[in-house]
Amino acid sequence: MIMQPKLNIVPFVSVDRMMKLVLAIGVERFLTELAGYIEDDFRRWELFDKTPRVASHSHDGVIELMPTSDGKLYGFKYVNGHPKNMREGLQTVTAFGVLADVGNGYPMLLTEMTILTALRTAAMSAVAAKHLAPKGARTMAIIGNGAQSEFQAIAFKALTGVDRLRLYDIDSSASRKCAKNLAGMGFDITICATGQEAVEGAEIITTVTADKLSATILTDNMVGPGVHINAVGGDCPGKTELHRDILLRSDIFVEFPPQTRIEGEIQQLAADHPVIELWQVIAGKAEGRRNGRQITLFDSVGFAIEDFSALRYVRDQLQATGLYEELDLLADPDEPRDLFGMLLRAKAAAAA
Ligand SMILES: NC(=O)c1ccc[n+]([C@@H]2O[C@H](COP(=O)([O-])OP(=O)(O)OC[C@H]3O[C@@H](n4cnc5c(N)ncnc54)[C@H](O)[C@@H]3O)[C@@H](O)[C@H]2O)c1
Repeated sequence: MIMQPKLNIVPFVSVDRMMKLVLAIGVERFLTELAGYIEDDFRRWELFDKTPRVASHSHDGVIELMPTSDGKLYGFKYVNGHPKNMREGLQTVTAFGVLADVGNGYPMLLTEMTILTALRTAAMSAVAAKHLAPKGARTMAIIGNGAQSEFQAIAFKALTGVDRLRLYDIDSSASRKCAKNLAGMGFDITICATGQEAVEGAEIITTVTADKLSATILTDNMVGPGVHINAVGGDCPGKTELHRDILLRSDIFVEFPPQTRIEGEIQQLAADHPVIELWQVIAGKAEGRRNGRQITLFDSVGFAIEDFSALRYVRDQLQATGLYEELDLLADPDEPRDLFGMLLRAKAAAAA
């Protein structure tokens, strides 16, 4: 735990400090350790407050709040999703988050979460694949080569041993960027001209595209028996990536069903279509992959507990690394009821 002698001060991790933190720890180690925190929290899933995220939809995107608590700590993330942003030179997804002490309600950490979301999403995908992908899978197609894509590749390498990538994006410059960023990291990379070409020989298919409307990134004929699909980009009402027929042939694993039924690929299915909660697989209460012919689908939308795990992980790194700033965030007068007096003393001090 970080010493917090001054109660007004909240440790703040800026984008600059987050980048230094990730580089100091190493991206692969960061993803592996973060995956461990996610698995720990998924094993105690039943303890958490759970609610579908609070989404404010607009014409161009969505702004969401993602709260949860384990009874000791409370966390939330603010995150947006605006697919048109990228064409305007802005990020599709930006985020920041807070971790707080349930005992007194005081925030204990404020951090950037744009980079952290990419890391946690990738760590979550790789955790799911550990339980669901065919054993020994080494080849992954990544369709959609934007901001999330390299993080996905590195997480799968670190956690599942994937070392052959087949990249496809409607914008080939995105695939070239992804391949360039991953050069020298131990991948054998092929840039493909179509989605169909990308999935050839792939044991794992990751879809991580951004479009405001429902797209069909994978058609039924593109998915053969035994494949694991990591569907990341369909995460809003009316925003999906897979043809419905694929869902009907797959065993579907989800984070929190009440949220995924609104936001995930399964919004295309009946409200009672059977799904398996991933936490149950991680906790050993449900089976993951059963055989070599089964199609497994992780219908990822991103759930608050993953962000909670990421906030916990970052907080646990701060003391050893010192990679945070002290933010004067909380008004905390010595005499708790004298908040106005504190204002008056500040006025007197400014006048002096
Ligand atoms: N499930 C989760 O937990 C989670 C977390 C973060 C982001 N996301 C989602 O992941 C998606 C990708 O996010 P990002 O930050 O990488 O976005 P981005 O805008 O940086 O990249 C998206 C890429 O998809 C490509 N693309 C769009 N339509 C395509 C198509 N039909 N075929 C192939 N490529 C296509 C674009 O050219 C772009 O390069 C978004 O939809 C985002 O909402 C999900």
